[in-house]
Amino acid sequence: MKILTKIFAHRGASGEYPENSMLAFQAAEEAGADGIELDVQLSKDGEVVIIHDETLNRTTNGSGWVKDHTFQQLSRLNANAKYRRMKAPLPSLQELLEWLTSNSLICNIELKNGVILYPQLEEKVIELVQRYSLQDRIIISSFNHYSIVKCYSLAPSIEIAPLYNMRLYMPWVYAKSIRAKGIHPKLRAAPPEIIKAAMEEGIEVRPYTVNKERDMRKLIKLNCSAFFTDYPKRAKVLVEEMKKA
Ligand code: G3P
Ligand code: CA
Repeated sequence: MKILTKIFAHRGASGEYPENSMLAFQAAEEAGADGIELDVQLSKDGEVVIIHDETLNRTTNGSGWVKDHTFQQLSRLNANAKYRRMKAPLPSLQELLEWLTSNSLICNIELKNGVILYPQLEEKVIELVQRYSLQDRIIISSFNHYSIVKCYSLAPSIEIAPLYNMRLYMPWVYAKSIRAKGIHPKLRAAPPEIIKAAMEEGIEVRPYTVNKERDMRKLIKLNCSAFFTDYPKRAKVLVEEMKKA
């Protein structure tokens, strides 16, 4: 069976390593993932840092808001709350992009500016992507659709994709209206008929977060463009198995 579905490691291989850490991104590459996904916020001194929450409490040994700490303070923390034996400093986006130049992974940068409207986050992310000439391998997504539209106006060559978690009516029409080439729905908001219709309309569909084997299998059978998973190794093993069938 010919399989086109790409596997994106959600927050890196976060099912087995500290989420959004270099360990998790490197593990994703080793697992043979096609891409990685990560979340960004801004530090007090304006550095783009890779962390999912607006606060440090859940994933690190620190506490309080990311925005109230300088990058130097953040880089002293360990983001290993779930995996105590591992050492996992918070990466900056710059560090990640530098590493990305050594491989061929696709990278989805999710702008986490739904709660805090970080000033200049879009400009800073785009400047870094351009500095490392990675425009062709980056997809910028967000639940804040105003923000991705701003990204498109700043750098039309970088792909954008809206994130959403409830079913939309004809999401491909909406995607085209904001010049997005893909959509990133929550799995429950992406029934097979919507996936098929969107792809027929030339819009890539990348549902999140797909961790159950039966869901992975369904999406692969549909030749869904891609999906995000915390377990890229399992997903790649399944892809190889299904290729042979
Ligand atoms: O980009 C897909 C997914 O990461 C969006 O939700 O909460 O895991 O960032 P969340
Ligand atoms: Ca995310």
